[in-house]
Amino acid sequence: MGRKKVTVVGAGNVGATCAHWIAARELADVVLVDIVEGAAKGKALDLLESGPVMKFDLSITGASTYETTADSDVVVVTAGVPRKKDPVTGQFTSRNDLVKINQKIVGEVVKECVKYSPNSVIIVVSNPLDAMCHVALHESGFPSHRVIGQAGALDTARYKTFIALELGVSVRDVHGIVLGGHGDEMVPLPRHTSVAGIPVRELMSEEKLQAIIERTRKGGGEIVGLLGYSGYYAPAAGTVEMVEAVLRDQKRVIPSAVYLTGQYGYDKLYVGVPAVLGANGVERIIEMELNEEEKAMLAISAKAVREVVEILGY
Ligand code: NAI
Ligand code: 2OP
Repeated sequence: MGRKKVTVVGAGNVGATCAHWIAARELADVVLVDIVEGAAKGKALDLLESGPVMKFDLSITGASTYETTADSDVVVVTAGVPRKKDPVTGQFTSRNDLVKINQKIVGEVVKECVKYSPNSVIIVVSNPLDAMCHVALHESGFPSHRVIGQAGALDTARYKTFIALELGVSVRDVHGIVLGGHGDEMVPLPRHTSVAGIPVRELMSEEKLQAIIERTRKGGGEIVGLLGYSGYYAPAAGTVEMVEAVLRDQKRVIPSAVYLTGQYGYDKLYVGVPAVLGANGVERIIEMELNEEEKAMLAISAKAVREVVEILGY
């Protein structure tokens, strides 16, 4: 068994930061690919040069073509156009507006990647996330357990962060989960949220909890509002949590965008639900028992996903 290898397509904010976290944790050799060759090669070299100081020893290379990505264990797809704030109107690009342009980009990228790494696990990050998972599944021809989307890891991390901030406790002791699509209709689950096992509703008022749920749903937009472009530290951290689970066969339970075939009452649709991630990608989908209110919220989120997926025209 040789060294593990990860291809990260898109050497922009999220892609480069994924490479950074992968290197910092010495998880695998990294190939950064970007249509802008200088960005891929430059960021890869810059990161490589931090090895002697940060004490990681990996191969980190950049490219604008795919030959050097051959035999990757995991392919992370971040290529695409991010949400931006229009300088004139002040409006943010909606995730849905990105669908057509990113469909083309993700489709091309995935086809190239699978040509060279036919046994890889693909982790999709490009937005609109749930729809881009459908693109990756369609274009790769992979079984669905090897095409996973990153959303829940990030959305759950944001949710936990806000709870820890509100209560003044360590994020390490906050447990919780966010289901649904990666959109403003996502479904944080307070009934399954605790601090060191103590139900969150015993620790804060319903009003504060609902404010946190709302902030979580708008978490991506909050960062765009501050930066003028979308966040990347937490998105990349969520992605690398999934990469690590696959590379190290950890059987981690991570809320992920997975292809449902009847679970939770949805068929042929990517929706964020808890999944066991290991060497084979999605090794199991966990079906939680949701109450009527939670089911109704998940239905709204799934409907929003379905509407974007329909734009793809598959
Ligand atoms: P960015 O603009 O910094 O990076 C995107 C990179 O993709 C650029 O370097 C660009 O040159 C490259 N690219 C474009 N077309 C390409 C192609 N055909 N082949 C190879 N590379 C290509 O954007 P950022 O902030 O890194 O975001 C990347 C994507 O991830 C966006 O779609 C964004 O909306 C999404 N995103 C998703 C999150 C999630 O939780 N799923 C969280 C944050 C961002
Ligand atoms: C986020 O949630 C924009 O999807 C991106 O930060």
